[in-house]
Amino acid sequence: MNNILDVKNLKTHYSSEEGIVKAVDGVSFSIGENQVFGLAGESGCGKSTLIRTIMRLVPKSAKVTADKLQFKEYDLLTVSDQSFREKILWQGISLVPQSAMNALNPVYRVGDQCIEAILAHTDFSKAEATKTVVQMFDAVGLQADLMKAYPHEFSGGMRQRAMLAMSLVLSPELVVMDEPTTGLDVLVQERILRNLKEIREKTKTSAAILLITHDISVIAEMSDRIGIMYAGKLMETADAMELFNEPYHPYTLGLKNAFPNIKALDRELISIPGSPPNLTRTIPGCLFYDRCPFSIDICRYERPEKIEVRPNHFVQCHRTEHVKEFRKLAGEKKTWQFSK
Ligand SMILES: Nc1ncnc2c1ncn2[C@@H]1O[C@H](COP(=O)(O)OP(=O)(O)OP(=O)(O)O)[C@@H](O)[C@H]1O
Ligand SMILES: [Mg+2]
Repeated sequence: MNNILDVKNLKTHYSSEEGIVKAVDGVSFSIGENQVFGLAGESGCGKSTLIRTIMRLVPKSAKVTADKLQFKEYDLLTVSDQSFREKILWQGISLVPQSAMNALNPVYRVGDQCIEAILAHTDFSKAEATKTVVQMFDAVGLQADLMKAYPHEFSGGMRQRAMLAMSLVLSPELVVMDEPTTGLDVLVQERILRNLKEIREKTKTSAAILLITHDISVIAEMSDRIGIMYAGKLMETADAMELFNEPYHPYTLGLKNAFPNIKALDRELISIPGSPPNLTRTIPGCLFYDRCPFSIDICRYERPEKIEVRPNHFVQCHRTEHVKEFRKLAGEKKTWQFSK
């Protein structure tokens, strides 16, 4: 499989009054053609920064470095803003932003907004653009007469679908979705993501998808591969089923506990104690140390290297040999009741 996106050792550091915010700090992953890559992690761990970096939406004052940041034949570190806008944005990579819920302009009809987006980026005639939007509305399960409706007449789920339709109209090769289902209830989330699968089949888009969420269980089924992000780093990356069924990193184990699983809605949710570290601080050891129930001394003083625990399954943790025991303990509430 060819990779369409290749990211190696990407760092995005913001400058702030409190110091340098290492929002993305040495992230490496790649996305293959047609692949769905799910990126999960708690609020503030750098997910949006990662994709805003790829989409050139971080402020100019942010420092971006990487060993590689490649989209197809384009080196995103060096390609000009003009080429990026003309050749890559929308037609190569499209974005459904995190604020998708508010991204629609309230005073224009939804269909007109989609048509305008096409006209702005292609040389389609208005009739062609309209036809494309009708097709996309159909693909995402919105009736064509809803094109005449205003955003306030749409439910949250419908708005989300409209944004999805808009992101797909130019047949991009990579669609980036930042928290497309946040704020919607878990069954609606499931439906939208399922829909997405159907849309891909219906529209025969071979688009790869980078799906961002804080909720690991929603993406487990959707994704081919998953990366678990914490404090600017990818703590664990593996094929989706393997990551979900045989996770290695204690943070992944914790995240799995913390979200309702669509297949076990009555399961008790256990949250990870504490909150992610301040990203301006310099921490010598593992960034998850103070919230990890399984940490030992070395975790505090030495940053774990990325290791390949199985083919193509990467983990940054000192204690992977003990994972069988951790998997058992992680399901018990008392394991997570501690303070350091
Ligand atoms: N422009 C900025 N300047 C300084 N710090 C920023 C800026 N944008 C984001 N940050 C900080 O960078 C860190 C990562 O933020 P980011 O929005 O990427 O996280 P996220 O994982 O998308 O979170 P959420 O799930 O809440 O959307 C946070 O600590 C945030 O406060
Ligand atoms: Mg975000």
